[in-house]
Amino acid sequence: MDNIVIIDCGSQFTQLIARRVREMKIHSVILPWDVTAERVLENAPSGIIVSGGPDSVNDEGAIAVHEKILNLDVPLLGICYGMQLLAKFLGGEVRSGEKSEYGTTPVELEEQADARLFRGLPGAFEVLMSHGDRVERLPPRFFATAHTRHGVVAAMESEDGRRFGLQFHPEVEHTQHGARILRHFLFDVCGCRGDWDLGDWVERSVEEIRGRVGAECVVCGLSGGVDSTVAAALVHRAIGKRLECIFVDHGLMRRDEGREVLASYEGLGLSVRCADASELFLSRLAGVTDPDEKRKIIGELFINVFEEESAKLGAARNSPIAWLLQGTIYPDVIESGGRKKGSAVIKLHHNVGGLPERMNLKLLEPLRDLFKDEVREIGRLLEVPDAIVDRHPFPGPGLAVRCLGAVSKERLDTLRGAEAIFKEELVRAGLYGKIWQSFCVLLPVRTVGVMGDGRTYSEVLALRAVNSSDAMTADWTRLPMDLLDTVSKRICNEVRGVNRVVLDITSKPPATIEWE
Ligand code: XMP
Repeated sequence: MDNIVIIDCGSQFTQLIARRVREMKIHSVILPWDVTAERVLENAPSGIIVSGGPDSVNDEGAIAVHEKILNLDVPLLGICYGMQLLAKFLGGEVRSGEKSEYGTTPVELEEQADARLFRGLPGAFEVLMSHGDRVERLPPRFFATAHTRHGVVAAMESEDGRRFGLQFHPEVEHTQHGARILRHFLFDVCGCRGDWDLGDWVERSVEEIRGRVGAECVVCGLSGGVDSTVAAALVHRAIGKRLECIFVDHGLMRRDEGREVLASYEGLGLSVRCADASELFLSRLAGVTDPDEKRKIIGELFINVFEEESAKLGAARNSPIAWLLQGTIYPDVIESGGRKKGSAVIKLHHNVGGLPERMNLKLLEPLRDLFKDEVREIGRLLEVPDAIVDRHPFPGPGLAVRCLGAVSKERLDTLRGAEAIFKEELVRAGLYGKIWQSFCVLLPVRTVGVMGDGRTYSEVLALRAVNSSDAMTADWTRLPMDLLDTVSKRICNEVRGVNRVVLDITSKPPATIEWE
C-alpha cells in the first residue's frame, strides 16, 4: 500500500494536506515535526510532505525537522515553511522577507525550467501564500521553477527530480491547480497508484486496536452521535464483547432520540448499559440560566454518572476496565503551537476532557485522524444505520444549550416539538442531507400574538441551519421561502408555547453555530 508521510510543522492546513492526499485514494499519516528518520521509514513512505508552520526558520528554537529526513532516499515536498527548511538545511539561504506576501497572489512559471510539478499548467496562476520569509539563495543542485511578481522564489526543484519546494499552499482551494500540482508529486514523482480506500483503513485499524488493547477491556460513552457510534462499531469489530458501552440519558435529547438510538445499538450487537439520569440532570439545571454554568453542571454530572456506571461494569466483569474509547475526530483536535510541546488538546466543549486522568484510563481514539465525511463513510462500511450516520451533529450538553434561559421539562418539550417539525420538513424537501446542521433555539423572550380570537403572549423560537465542512467556520443556509413558511406555520399551530418564529442569518464567525 502506498503511504505518504506528512510531517506537521504546525500549519493550520496540515490536516487539509492529509485530506487532499486521501481524496486521491492514497493513504497518509501525519507525524509530528520532531519525528525521527527511523520512525518515518517504519511507515514505508512513498513520499514525504513537510507542512507549513508559523515559525521563522532563522529564529532561535524554531521547529526543525531532523536533517536526516530531508536526506532520505524518498521523494520529498516541502510546502511553505517546509520549503524553507529544505532550503536552509540543504545549503541555501532563507531571509525574513521585507515584503511579506500573504493572501492570493499570482505566480509565474520559469520559462526555461522543465518543472515536474507544473507540467501542463498555464504560465501564470493564482496561489495562496502565507509566509513572511523567502528563499534568498537556492541550495546547490536546485533550480527555481516559479516566482512571484516581486521576484521571490515561489517554487524550486532539485536536479535529480526528487526534492521539491512550494512557497505557496497547493492544498487550499484558493490556489489554482493546487490539486494537479499535488497529483504530479504523488503520482508522477512518488509513483503512487491511488488504490487505497477506507475499507483498508477499517482492516488495518481493527488489527491495530487488537494489538494495542490486547486482552484488556474498553469502556465507551455513547451519545447517539455519529462519531462515538462509529468508534464503538469499529472497536466492537476488533474486540467484540470486551467493549462495554454506557449511554447516559441526560433527558436533553431530541424527541424519541434515546429510544431510537438504543434500538440501533442493539442492532449493531453492542453491549450498552443505559443510565437514565434525566431527573438528576433536570433537577440540577433548574433555574440555571448562565451558559457556562449549564455546561459545567452537565459535564460534571455526566462524569459522575459515567464513572459510577463503569465501576459497576468493572465489578460485574471482575476485571477492571483499562481503556476509555472516545470518538474524537480530526477537527476536534486543536494543535498547540505546532505541537512544540508534543501534545494536542481537545476542544473545551468536549466536556469529558478530564475523564481519562480521573478514572486512570488509557485513551483510545481510533478516529483521531479522520474527517467527518470519512467517519460517515466508515460508519456505512460498518453497517451503522443511516439514521445515525447521516444525523446532524448534536452538542454534548444537548438541548440545554438550545433552551436559552432556564431549562425545564416543559420548555424542552416545546423545543423538541419544534425541532421535530423542522427536521421533518427539511427531510420532505430533500434538504436535510445537504445541510451540515439544523436545529431550533427557544428564546426566553415573550412577544404578543393573536390566535383565533385570543391574544397570546408566548416565547420566540429561532431556526438555525448552517453549511460547513468541519464546524470551524459556517455559512447560514439559504432555505427556500416556501419551506420556511410551512415550518413557521406548523410550529405556531402545533407546538405549545411558541407564537413567533425567526430565522438566524448569521455565519460563523462572527457567531458560533450554537447559541450558547
Ligand atoms: P460552535 O457552537 O462552537 O459549535 O460553533 C461547533 C460545533 O460543535 C458542536 N458543539 C458541541 N459538540 N459538545 C460537543 O460534542 C459540546 O459541548 C458542543 N458545543 C457545540 C456544535 O453543535 C457544532 O457542530
